[in-house]
Parts: sequence; C-alpha cells; structure tokens
Amino acid sequence: MSEKIAVIGAGLIGRAWAIVFARAGYRVDLWDAVPQALQGCRQLLQDNLADLASHGLIDETPQTVLSRIHTADSLAAALQDAILVQENVKETVDVKRAIFAEMDSLAAPQTILTSSTSWIPTSAFSEHLPGRDRILVAHPVNPPYLVPLVELAPAPWTSAATVERARDIYTRAGQSPVVLNKEITGFLLNRIQGAVLNEALNLYENGYATAADLDKVLKDGLGLRWSFMGPFETIDLNAPEGVLDYARRYGHTYRDVAKTQAPNEWNSETLERIEAERRGDLPADQLGERARWRDNRLMGLMAHKRKQK
Ligand SMILES: NC(=O)c1ccc[n+]([C@@H]2O[C@H](COP(=O)([O-])OP(=O)(O)OC[C@H]3O[C@@H](n4cnc5c(N)ncnc54)[C@H](O)[C@@H]3O)[C@@H](O)[C@H]2O)c1
Repeated sequence: MSEKIAVIGAGLIGRAWAIVFARAGYRVDLWDAVPQALQGCRQLLQDNLADLASHGLIDETPQTVLSRIHTADSLAAALQDAILVQENVKETVDVKRAIFAEMDSLAAPQTILTSSTSWIPTSAFSEHLPGRDRILVAHPVNPPYLVPLVELAPAPWTSAATVERARDIYTRAGQSPVVLNKEITGFLLNRIQGAVLNEALNLYENGYATAADLDKVLKDGLGLRWSFMGPFETIDLNAPEGVLDYARRYGHTYRDVAKTQAPNEWNSETLERIEAERRGDLPADQLGERARWRDNRLMGLMAHKRKQK
C-alpha cells in the first residue's frame, strides 16, 4: 500500500497540496471542518488536474491521480496511519494552536505535523505540546503544484530527524524544499518579496515611474533570470571572477543606494493611485480571467523548465 499524507483544510491551498502528493503517488486523505468544502472539492480538483494534463505536467491521467485522493469523515480518520499531515486552515494563531493541539493528541508519535501558514512561526502554536519535536511549518507558494518551493521553518525544539524526514517527503513529492536555520517572521520568500515591494512602492510614491513600468522592470528584466537563478548566482556570473569581483566593482554603489531605501508606510493614497492605474489597465471584472491566464503562463513555464532538466 502507498504511504499516506493527511491534508487538513480543503480550501485553495489544501486542495493544491492534495494534487501535489497524489501526483507523486501518495494516498491523500483530505478533511475539513466545513462539510461543504469537501463536497465541492472533487470537481475543482478534476478541473485543476485537467489543466495540468493539458500542459504535460502530470505523467498519468487526471482520473488516476484523483483516485488517490479520499475525503475523510473525521480528523482522527484522516490522521490515522499518515506519515505526514499538512495543515491548511484559517490563518490565525488561535486556530492554529487549537488544531495542532488536537492533531498532536490524535496522531501516532512518528507522524510529522506541518503547517502551511504564511506568517506564523512554529513556536507560536507548538510550544506547549507534548509532541512539539515533530511539528514544523512547511510554507508553500500558491499553487504548490506549479511552484515547487516549500519553506521548512522548524521551531528551536523541532528535532533534526523530523526536518530531514520532512525534507525527504517533500522532495519525493516533487517539491523544492529549503530549510530555515532559525525562526523569522515571513520566512524567506515573503521577506524577499516584501523587500522588492517596499522599493517598488517607494519608487512609485516618489514619482520615478508608472506602476506599469515598474512591473516591466521585473517581468521583462530581473524576473526572466530569476525563474532559473537567484541573486547570488546572478552576481557570481555578472563579473568575470565571481562574487568577490562583483562586490569590488559594484558593492559601493549598492551600499550607497541602500542608504536611500527607507521602509514604505503602505499609505492609502499611494495604494489608491496604484489601484486606479491597474484598473485602467485591467477592469475589475477581468481579474478572474487574468488570474487564469497567469496560471496558464505558469504551467507553460513549468513545462519548459521540465524539458530543460
Ligand atoms: N492563499 C495563499 O496564497 C496561501 C499561500 C501560502 C500559504 N497559505 C496558507 O495556507 C492556509 C490556508 O489558506 P487558504 O488560502 O487555503 O484558505 P481558504 O480559506 O481557502 O481555506 C481554509 C479552509 O480551512 C477550513 N477550516 C477553517 N478552520 C478550520 C478548522 N479549525 N479545522 C478544519 N478546517 C478548517 C475552511 O473550511 C476552509 O475550507 C493559511 O494558513 C494560509 O496562510 C495560503
């Protein structure tokens, strides 16, 4: 029998995780506190799998992948015999504390418990639990079946063996795990995304460029490289002798620029101007259609990246 993963919470991210694990051959037991969330999810999973199949991003038929995803009648039933539990419920500390206390009391001692939380550190919801050494954050990027990064962010008391087993399970599921050595708000991805947004907001607010041109800086500039290498590999290749050579040539410029990069206050007047510019380029009633276009572009990009390996 194939190994089982429990996915708790059948919203946007829970359903996407179900696809990730089922696509990799795991049995998935999905559970949600709201029965309607489970009732509607089969059709949504089927639609997502059909899109993936049309881009060659699953090796089996959508039906075969879907047949590995089961809905459980209770939290206890979902957790039974699971090697790993992926929690995807509401993003508040109180809700995470309550669900992890319940899961810690129900799950077998060897079961790893992970949370998809975007911002809450593991220690905020695991500190007082007897099984706290098997609990950690595994933060995905939406949707994880298209964007493989998963940030493993353990608490100081999460055991090294738990982190290694989790890393192995996500790797076998086709994801790209990174491990944080210590806890920090926003983990890695959202901190870096926040730094880029901070500077884009400052440049817009101070009148240096339109929102459309600032978006172009990423989509027709930095972003092209960033889909296959990060900032450190970029600077390693952008000077003939590598990182230290790059730092000797350009380090002082970045240092000077950094002194002019203040934290942005996200003030409403600036955001309303950006909103107005965006609505001029994309009317509100076309947001959903454009999000589907984005997902299709992402699928095309992932299909391309798969061929390059
Ligand atoms: N949406 C994103 O882009 C994104 C990206 C990365 C991580 N996350 C994280 O994933 C988690 C889920 O987010 P989402 O966007 O899927 O939310 P969502 O609102 O789409 O889904 C949440 C689901 O959890 C269920 N739920 C709520 N409380 C519950 C409980 N106590 N027990 C069982 N089920 C419960 C709800 O019925 C709902 O189906 C959050 O922690 C969020 O921060 C979201």
